[in-house]
Amino acid sequence: MIRIAPSILSCRFAELGTEVRTVDEAGAEWIHVDVMDGHFVPNITIGPLIADAVRGVTSRTVDVHLMIKDPDRYIPDFARAGADVITVHAEATVHLHRTLGLIRELGKRAGVALNPSTPLSAIEDVFDEIDLIVIMSVNPGFGGQAFIRGSVDKVSRARAMIEAHRSGQIDLEVDGGVSAKTAPALAAAGATVLVAGSAIFGHPAGAAAGVDAIRSSIEGIHWHRSGT
Ligand code: DX5
Ligand code: ZN
Repeated sequence: MIRIAPSILSCRFAELGTEVRTVDEAGAEWIHVDVMDGHFVPNITIGPLIADAVRGVTSRTVDVHLMIKDPDRYIPDFARAGADVITVHAEATVHLHRTLGLIRELGKRAGVALNPSTPLSAIEDVFDEIDLIVIMSVNPGFGGQAFIRGSVDKVSRARAMIEAHRSGQIDLEVDGGVSAKTAPALAAAGATVLVAGSAIFGHPAGAAAGVDAIRSSIEGIHWHRSGT
C-alpha cells in the first residue's frame, strides 16, 4: 500500500492547522515537514515549534525531513516535538550509523535521504539501522522544482536492494516533483511513500483534490518483483 505525504512547505502557513486537517481528512497517511537550515541547503524553513504544531492537529504519521548539517544537534528536539519518522541526509552527517542509532534510541523511525548525485552505496553498510530510504528526485532546498527523470531508475534499484537484504519492512519514499504525472512510474518502481508539496497544496481545486489526483493516478499500480 502506498502512502501519500503532503509536504507542508507549499501550504498557506497562516492557515497551517486548516491545511493539515484538510489533507488528513482527504486520506493522506503521512504529513511531511521540511526542515532547512540555510547551510546544508540554501533555504531556511521551519523548526521544532512547527513540527509540534502539526503534531497537535493530526494523528497521522509526522514525517520530519531534516535538511540540516550535523542533524544530531536537533534530533532530540524533533523527537520531543512529536515526530514519528526522522530523516537525515547521508551527506549531512559524518557518523551516519551513530545518527540513525540516536533516532531509534529516541523511539522514532530512522530515515536516510540521498541527494540526486549520491549513490545508493552510501547506505549499503547501515541497512540494518534504517526504517526509511528517501530518494530525492530534486536537489533539496525548494518546493516546486522539476522532477529529475533518472530518479525512477534509482527507485527501482533501491527496491532491488531492499529485496536483496530481505528488508521488506523498510519504506521507500520519493521526494521532489511528485505529481499525478510522475507518481505512476514511481509506484511501479516500488515506492511506498510519495511526498508532494506543490502538486497538493497548489492544486487549483484545493489540497483535498490534490491528494485525490495522486491517489487516482496510482490506483491499481503495484510493484512486482521481476520474474514473478
Ligand atoms: C524539497 C523538499 C520537498 C518539497 C517537495 O527540498 O524536501 O519535500 O517540499 O515539493 P514539491 O512536491 O513541490 O517538489
Ligand atoms: Zn522533503
